[in-house]
Amino acid sequence: MGKTTCASHLAYGSAAAGYRAIAVDLDPQNSLRLHFGIPLGEIGGLSRGELTAGDWRARLLAGAGGVEVLPYGASDATARRGLHRSMESPGALSAALRGLADSEDTVVVVDLPPGPSAALDAVSALADLRLTVLLADTASLSLLPAVEKGYYPPWVPASSQHRLVLNQVDIRRRLNREVTEFVQAQYPDSLLATVHRDEAVPEAAARQMSVAEHAESSRAARDMSMLCRRSLALLLNRAETSHQSSLWGPAL
Ligand SMILES: Nc1ncnc2c1ncn2[C@@H]1O[C@H](COP(=O)(O)OP(=O)(O)OP(=O)(O)O)[C@@H](O)[C@H]1O
Ligand SMILES: [Mg+2]
Repeated sequence: MGKTTCASHLAYGSAAAGYRAIAVDLDPQNSLRLHFGIPLGEIGGLSRGELTAGDWRARLLAGAGGVEVLPYGASDATARRGLHRSMESPGALSAALRGLADSEDTVVVVDLPPGPSAALDAVSALADLRLTVLLADTASLSLLPAVEKGYYPPWVPASSQHRLVLNQVDIRRRLNREVTEFVQAQYPDSLLATVHRDEAVPEAAARQMSVAEHAESSRAARDMSMLCRRSLALLLNRAETSHQSSLWGPAL
């Protein structure tokens, strides 16, 4: 539906805006790295070692657009179980992520697997901004009340902001247009951005580059740029009051 695509563009956009951008993949599919030109055969990443603070920085890879990438890593069932267990132990993920975001000009974008997961619960406790990416269809619509209440764990701090992103919007399709209008009307404060369906998106992914670099004047490039600007504005407001580094993660 577009979580990984939006996550990669948030990281690209943050780097382009002058931040130190780190893209972290907590999805065992290990596909976030492929948006940044990391070779398919690269096996390194989070699942290849202990989840200890400081350790993560050594596993960062240099990606396209100046983004530093921490892939999930090639993994077997044992490695996945190990990482899963350590994510459940209180404080482990938070220490590791805070070790990455060691300066105020760092933006850490975390991509998550679909649906509820130990990773979602752990990251939710830390994220300054949580983005839920939805398609403009009836299945997403049926999820919305649960997303607004109850999808995220109860220990999400009150300071953590949550916003919706509608992706693959195609206003030529009636149902798609109606769902978009409904979300705009019912959730005006939650809806951060809409990203239109645009062939330039999969094309850019195939070339392992951002849609802005692949097709600068495309609709999707404009939409992604808007998504980044609005996300950074929310994080900046928060940073001004709390002086904390920023963590965020597309969630559905
Ligand atoms: N705005 C868009 N326009 C056209 N295609 C898109 C758009 N956004 C995403 N896609 C395509 O949709 C597919 C799924 O996107 P993506 O991998 O980002 O979704 P995901 O939510 O991370 O999926 P998963 O649940 O498997 O992790 C990809 O082929 C991607 O190129
Ligand atoms: Mg994904």
